[in-house]
Amino acid sequence: MDRFQFHNPTKLIFGKDQLQALKQEVPRYGSKVLLVYGGGSIKRSGLYDKVTAILKEIGAEVTELSGVEPNPRLSTVHRGVELCKTKGIELVLAVGGGSVLDCSKAIAVGAKYDGDMWDFAERKAAPKDALPLGTVLTMAATGSEMNGNSVISNEVTKEKLGWGSKFAYPAFSILEPENTVSLPKDQTVYGMVDIMSHVFEHYFHKDTNTLVQDGFCEAVLRTVIETAPKLIEDLENTEYRETILYCGTMALNGVLNMGLSGDWATHNIEHAVSAVYDIPHGGGLAILFPNWMKHVMHHDIARFKRLAINVFNVNPEGKSDQAIAEEGIGALRAFWNSIGAPSRLADYEIDASNLEIMADKAVRFGSFGNFALLNKQDVMEIYQSSL
Ligand code: NZQ
Ligand code: ZN
Repeated sequence: MDRFQFHNPTKLIFGKDQLQALKQEVPRYGSKVLLVYGGGSIKRSGLYDKVTAILKEIGAEVTELSGVEPNPRLSTVHRGVELCKTKGIELVLAVGGGSVLDCSKAIAVGAKYDGDMWDFAERKAAPKDALPLGTVLTMAATGSEMNGNSVISNEVTKEKLGWGSKFAYPAFSILEPENTVSLPKDQTVYGMVDIMSHVFEHYFHKDTNTLVQDGFCEAVLRTVIETAPKLIEDLENTEYRETILYCGTMALNGVLNMGLSGDWATHNIEHAVSAVYDIPHGGGLAILFPNWMKHVMHHDIARFKRLAINVFNVNPEGKSDQAIAEEGIGALRAFWNSIGAPSRLADYEIDASNLEIMADKAVRFGSFGNFALLNKQDVMEIYQSSL
């Protein structure tokens, strides 16, 4: 294990009927609230009415920013920052999926910065302050509800960059499984792929003596694999929704990866694809992750063998380590196919024409990946094998 400090300041408020906690949480930060949401799902599900009724009851002065895009755009962040500055906003309240939360994080840091928030994404500056942020999550996927990360798309330069800051953690996040039941099947699948991918990013590391962390990761993976087929057949089942919602938060709130540095190359490779083609993040990961695995398997066959046996129940008898590892990767692909995730870039009508542009974006900050260092040629090969 590597040395580590763990500090996660987000108050997690989880379970049925927890929305009422807004009554206690919001007034802690002030009365001028920027309510941020997406393209209308919260209006259709009735959540918007519930949230605004509570805000009215506590006398909050609400300004709205709606229409946050999946893969949230910098221009929307700018609109939010402007509203915060002109209206004297005291709390940003994000109600939606990871995109709404990520956009709200960028608004919260941008509101306390004189320059353009994009400087943070480009590593030209680091946030020094932020408005407080509260969230009501409607989709299990990113873990954004309990981490300091955000991913923003710059539609002018066609870049999609992740950034993170200790100032970007939500002050509180309210997670009611009931608020996720309206999520359609395709987005539910993308969310579960994203959750598993976050665990894989941790699992493939080079640190030693991480028995507990590796076991935690495997438990989360096995749980998603067991629950996913039941959930997609019964989308309104709040028990399955609850399980997946909890998995999503645990997968990326810093608990599973204490004392280790995960890989994170596949996320970088996917962000370059969705920067150019605006595809769903989880869909891109489903295509790319098994191909990244095949590409880097030789770095540590034992780890892939362990995954195959402990998570995918591969029977090792009479097989070489290489064969076991390959069977595990095949089982992952088969599992994602079985729940309806895409498996080829062609599923999004992406051909070879922009591979080099995407690869250049992926290596923008140089070679990357902690488990296996990738250069542009590696990225090109992974894209080619994903066509
Ligand atoms: O916009 P609305 O109308 O709300 O609809 C959304 C959107 O169309 C819909 N949706 C969400 N909750 C719903 C619902 N529809 C019905 N009922 C509900 N309860 O689902 C669509 C997708 O939502 P989005 O927020 O885009 O999905 P997700 O949570 O997967 O977020 C994806 C973004 O997060 C970034 C991704 O790159 C992508 O930009 N990521 C953020 C991370 C982080 N902050 O830590 C890590 C991740 O690896 C990821 O990169
Ligand atoms: Zn992700």
